[in-house]
Amino acid sequence: MGSTIIGCGKSLPALEVENDELKALVDTNDEWITTRTGIKSRRIAVDETNADLGEEAARQALGWTEGGYAERRIEAGEIDLVICATVTPDVVVPSAAGLLRRRLGLDNAIAFDVNAACSGFIYGLTVAETMIAASASNVAGAAGRNPIKRALVVGAERLTRLTNWSDRNTCVLFGDGAGAAVLEWNEERAGILSSFIVNEDDITNALTCANAFDAPQPFDKDGISLEAAAAGDPALPRTDEEIGTHALVEAGRPRQVLYMDGPKVFKFAAEAMTTAVRQAVERAGITLDDVACIVPHQANERIIKYAAKKLGRPMDFFQLSIAHTGNSSAASVPMALADAYEQGRIQRGDKVIVVAFGGGFTSGAVVFEA
Ligand code: UT7
Repeated sequence: MGSTIIGCGKSLPALEVENDELKALVDTNDEWITTRTGIKSRRIAVDETNADLGEEAARQALGWTEGGYAERRIEAGEIDLVICATVTPDVVVPSAAGLLRRRLGLDNAIAFDVNAACSGFIYGLTVAETMIAASASNVAGAAGRNPIKRALVVGAERLTRLTNWSDRNTCVLFGDGAGAAVLEWNEERAGILSSFIVNEDDITNALTCANAFDAPQPFDKDGISLEAAAAGDPALPRTDEEIGTHALVEAGRPRQVLYMDGPKVFKFAAEAMTTAVRQAVERAGITLDDVACIVPHQANERIIKYAAKKLGRPMDFFQLSIAHTGNSSAASVPMALADAYEQGRIQRGDKVIVVAFGGGFTSGAVVFEA
């Protein structure tokens, strides 16, 4: 018995931008981007919102529309929980999950967001699975909690709205999209076998984005002050210092764009991915030989190659969806998972690993039986 993935879907915005087109913005070329990352093009949400993308992916996962994979149609009233993993919600309140709940008419569901950067879907899956398992178990207090039998877990991002389009080190990497999965408690099937999630302090601030909340505030230390509203947020420089955005601010750049030290993140990512896979496999009480395929975060094909070598597995053991999506943060794993199902890579009973790493630093893996 366990929480089983019974549906999966994905959605991409309409605009596709090829590598060479980015030459109009920065000094780059298709050859560099392809060989360094495996990316050929990315999708950019110009007209689509985070909720538009999430809604379409969810509809597929629920079996309401063509595309993705759905064992059967799930009715709106059957979903008890919606979790949306995102760092780019359309608005602060309501949550992205709350908007999806409204749009899809999931009236019985509780809904909230998870921010664990690119690992968000792995964290969301783990939270959902834990809540479902707690609700199904006989542990003390289970009866006093919200009964959760089915969950919709979505990863939806418009990362290109945080991208610094004048920085060639980062702007060629990112894309937008959404992916979704439906989890259901099943007495007969094993479903999720294990989860390993871990945080590590990004001490050198190798991956940050301030996106400060700096609405004019008419107060100073003594109380109401209309002058203070015009003066701006005195606490902001401390935040900039803390998360490393001061260098951008000093250089006159907007603080809401994403900053990344690529080589540092690369090093962290390569190790984090292999560690998470090994730990999750061990926790599941199986070996890598029992696993049909790994669906990794699509950040850079070279990171996946490094992990493949370390884990002693060929590249075709890994789902590769990066070529035409780029890195779509929390949407990347569920989109790649939908691809794996659509391409027939995952059959009933197969053991599969989803794994990701991201800003924070966060990382983790989930092992499940399809
Ligand atoms: O989702 C989690 C977050 N992100 C990641 O997982 C990303 C992790 N990091 C990476 O994927 C890689 O570090 C990058 C793809 C970002 C960069 O690849 P790299 O092999 O580490 O290259 P580099 O940063 O060491 O740069 C090599 C050279 C530099 O030129 P010089 O200093 O050697 O003359 C860069 O200025 O490549 C240059 N460069 C570019 N050239 C053409 C950097 N970006 C570009 C570009 N086009 N877009």
